[in-house]
Amino acid sequence: MLAKKATLIASIATGFVLSGCAPPRTVSYQKDVQPILQSNCGTCHDQGGVGYEVSGFSVASYAGLMKGTKYGRMIDPGHARQSNLVWLLEHNAHPSINMPKLCEQMNIPTGKCAAAAPFARRLPKREVTLIARWINQGAIDN
Ligand code: HEC
Repeated sequence: MLAKKATLIASIATGFVLSGCAPPRTVSYQKDVQPILQSNCGTCHDQGGVGYEVSGFSVASYAGLMKGTKYGRMIDPGHARQSNLVWLLEHNAHPSINMPKLCEQMNIPTGKCAAAAPFARRLPKREVTLIARWINQGAIDN
């Protein structure tokens, strides 16, 4: 059991999952992760968006995503459970900072937000799991 755990940790560190059961497919940043973030977060978290202006967090590129907010990183490669991004998407954080959010939940003039997100909602579990898996697989630009 211990040996198995050590193997798992070692394999996650190298970006490969070599556990006993069938390995989960490799999640792609380009094909899986980016489209989810772009459609759910992109209107606010890109140049000119309210979320980007306030937090400095942009999902427009891999580099922006990995850079995180002006306070620090949102992703800890290999460790989804320790990644703030997953924490926020699972709505485990304080309600006022869970993402995506509604205009009414923001500390900014609502006029600025009106056009941005009529759709703010909690991401489906399947999408959060996909992003978490990508992080556990090393959060690479694949
Ligand atoms: C309607 C606009 C809007 C949408 C959509 C949105 N955000 Fe935000 N986001 C904000 C604003 C505004 C802030 C600034 C801090 C605050 O008000 O909580 C923020 C802050 C953040 C932060 C910094 C941590 C914090 O709470 O300050 C992260 C990380 C973040 N958003 C991630 C996301 C992700 C991931 C998505 C998509 C799943 C998303 N946001 C969708 C507006 C938005």
